[in-house]
Amino acid sequence: MLKAQEIMGISPIIPVVSIHDASKAVETALALQEGGINIIEITLRSADAIKAIEAVAKAVPSMCVGAGTVVNAEQFQMVQDAGANFVISPGMTENLLKHAQTSEVPFLPGVATASDIMLGMEYGLDAFKLFPANVVGGQGALKAYGGPFSQISFCPTGGVTLMNMNQFLSMKNVLCVGGTWICPSDLIDAGDFKGISTLCKEAMIAVNRDAHDL
Ligand code: 3PG
Repeated sequence: MLKAQEIMGISPIIPVVSIHDASKAVETALALQEGGINIIEITLRSADAIKAIEAVAKAVPSMCVGAGTVVNAEQFQMVQDAGANFVISPGMTENLLKHAQTSEVPFLPGVATASDIMLGMEYGLDAFKLFPANVVGGQGALKAYGGPFSQISFCPTGGVTLMNMNQFLSMKNVLCVGGTWICPSDLIDAGDFKGISTLCKEAMIAVNRDAHDL
């Protein structure tokens, strides 16, 4: 089982994906792979999300499939049973942190403050999603957290786009970014899997970790 920081090293961009029709899940995952991205976060924001996770985990074993928007221990268990390789949450609760400790599946909870980071560290975590990145301080916050929390890595998510991703990716404590722009639900619903691959290719070509390290 990979550790959270290793999961974050798979791709500079983690597509945050909402799938409304599980029958489109495998094609969506293959479209991301075709575009050069081997990781997907399927959010629990649709009735079909668990089925979608299950389908990708079974049919595309070369894809690292994660579950997002996991907000309680019951959901953590459900996505783990569905075959999720990692679990992401917009925030953290003591219950969720305690449950994650009992599981081998890496947990990447969201943080917005120094206290959130310290609470996560008490549970042995060294990697977090910064959420919503554009609202809770963005690069300024990440730079500041690099002082007291130099061993901690982040995946900024929320407001990250093709236009600003390199500003995050060029920071030392940012291993990857997350975003919905790269795999929008309307393209999935329309079955435009080529369009998804094109968005991925465009973003992967544009990745530049030397952009301007802050
Ligand atoms: C998430 O849950 O991670 C966010 O909804 C992603 O935010 P974005 O739509 O701004 O990329």
